[in-house]
This record gives sequence, C-alpha cells and structure tokens, in this order.
Amino acid sequence: MQRVFSGIQPSGIPTLGNYLGAIRNWVPMQNGDNSLFCVVDLHAITVWQDPKELSRQTREMAAALIACGLDPERCILFVQSHVHAHHRLAWIFTCVARMGWLNRMTQFKDKAGKDRENVSTGLFVYPNLMAADILAYHATQVPVGDDQRQHIELANDIAQKFNHDYGEEFFPNITPLIQGVAARVMSLRDGTKKMSKSDPSDQSRINLTDDADTVALKIRRAKTDPEPLPSELRGLEARPEARNLVGILAAMTDTTPDAVLAEHGGKGFGAFKETLAEALVAKLSPIQGEMRRLLDDPAAVDASLRRGAEKAAAIADPIVTRAEALVGFLPRG
Ligand code: TYM
Repeated sequence: MQRVFSGIQPSGIPTLGNYLGAIRNWVPMQNGDNSLFCVVDLHAITVWQDPKELSRQTREMAAALIACGLDPERCILFVQSHVHAHHRLAWIFTCVARMGWLNRMTQFKDKAGKDRENVSTGLFVYPNLMAADILAYHATQVPVGDDQRQHIELANDIAQKFNHDYGEEFFPNITPLIQGVAARVMSLRDGTKKMSKSDPSDQSRINLTDDADTVALKIRRAKTDPEPLPSELRGLEARPEARNLVGILAAMTDTTPDAVLAEHGGKGFGAFKETLAEALVAKLSPIQGEMRRLLDDPAAVDASLRRGAEKAAAIADPIVTRAEALVGFLPRG
C-alpha cells in the first residue's frame, strides 16, 4: 500500500510557487484514506504568527486547497494541531535526531540568518516534526517542491535510526515526489531566490488571490534582461529570470520550456509577458471564485476539516501508540 502525505504552512496566502511546486500535483494523487493533505499550523508558529491571523489563514489555506481541486470526500484534508499524534511522535523523533543532522539543514541556516541566538527552538527542530507528520501515517510518497528535499532525507535518517535503536523495521522509507518544470519557482525580482509567501516584497510573488490587474502589473514589472528570448533551452543558461518565466508559462499551459521557446524565441519580453499574464489569470480566476464561495460559509469549511482530523487520527493513533510501546512507554491501559 502506498500512502501519500503532504503539508503546507498557513503562514500567508499560497503563492504560485506553492501551487505549481506542490498543490496542483496533489490533486491527481487523491486516493481516499491513502492520501492525506495537511495545513501545518504547528510548523507555522516556529516563527511569530499573529493569533487572529493564524486561525483565519488556516481556514483560508484549507479553502484554497479545496478550490485548487482537493476534494475532502476523496482525500483526508485536515489541520495539523487537530491530530495529537503529530506532537507525540515529534517528541520521540526530537530524541532520535542528532544535533549534527539538524545543524546541516540549509533551510534553518537561511531562516535563522545571523541572529541564531534569537530564533525559536521550534525552528531548529522543525524537521523532526515534519518527519513525524509523514511517518505517523506510515506514508511513503511525499509530493513537494524541490526546497523540501533535504528535510525528507533527514526524515529517512530519523526513521532508520528509530528502527535500528528499537530493533524493528517499523517506519518505512519515504520517497519525495518532486515533479515537473516548476519544482522550484523563483522570485519575480531575483531569479536566484525562491518565490516565497514570506518574502517582504509582494512584487516578488504571484499570490493565488491576486486579481487580473495585479497579476498583469507584477508580470510586467518582473525582472528580465535586455536580450530577446532564445529559441533553445541552452540559451537560458545564464539567464535565471528569463528561465523562470519560461518555466512558469510552460507549467501553466501544460507544455514544456522547449515548446514555449519554439513559439516565443526571438521575441522580446513585452508580448511574452502579456501571454504569461493571460495564462495566469485564466487559471487563477476560477480558483479565486471558488475560494470566495467556500469562505462565504466558514462553518462548512471547519466542519469538513473536523471530519478530516477524525479520519487522520484513526490512522495515526494506532501507529504512534505502537511507536510509544517500542520506546518502552507504559501503556495507558
Ligand atoms: P511550505 O508551506 O513552505 O510550502 C508548501 C509546498 O510548496 C512548495 N513550494 C514551492 N515549490 C516550488 N517553487 C517554490 N517557490 C515553492 N515554494 C514552496 C514546497 O516545496 C512545499 O511542497 N515544511 C513544509 C511543510 C510540511 C510538509 C510536511 C511537507 C510540513 N510537514 C510533511 C511535506 C510533508 C513547508 O514549509 O512547506
């Protein structure tokens, strides 16, 4: 049995990077109770979140996921803090993982920056919680963007050490599924930086909720270079911004960068950017309409998240209870 698990932080509005790198790949993977998608609020609070905003953003993220095509009747969609198995297993993993492993995490280094003394301890142990998210369900397939690769490798190290220390092949090996030309969507202002919900500049990203005028303006202002587009892929090698925009258009129109260049090679960025903005608006506006419709009835969104959490707990509780028994915790009876 192959079980799919993935998660997204409710730390802002989902971006085009989240959509292309993760969410849209989740939609065809829905397979009833063998597919779990989680809004990871426990991860979000590793950096400060305004409490009122956090609960609103958690519900909005769930609505965005449904609007993008996740169907709570065809998968398990839930909020991380509603299922206690995540905390329980995360603590055990915090005692299995080694400081040296966590010290090597590039995302921690990027997020903590120079002020290491002042970041939360949660930010440091974040990958242990992520390993627990996946392994509490014995999930094996994890569809994510390229930036999560190192966290999944660490989750496998933790699983192996647990199995070794406690003498049983209990946790399975996890495979990251990193798909397509848009596994790493870059900032519109700097083609060497990842597009991110937390970038201080809103101009650096397309939010799934941006209206047509905003999308057109952001794409028009997106950084490019003065050369026309090349007609072959290798012409993009030292041109990260151009490569990013070509990759986005290819992903949005379900084609390849080669095909995009065959059509637009030799042209300047003006006409290309107009085509790109139109493709984005055509995809995003139905999602936005659906999100508004869902958020008109927040109680219905909350009710489906509650049902999702019940189904998730029914899978994770026996697995984590067994892990606790392997560790030697006295059963609750
Ligand atoms: P998060 O919330 O940063 O991002 C959610 C998903 O979107 C992908 N992504 C991108 N893909 C391509 N280009 C980009 N610019 C881009 N930005 C984000 C991410 O790779 C991710 O797949 N730690 C995770 C959440 C998490 C999780 C998990 C994921 C918690 N537990 C267990 C998988 C399994 C995170 O912060 O994602």
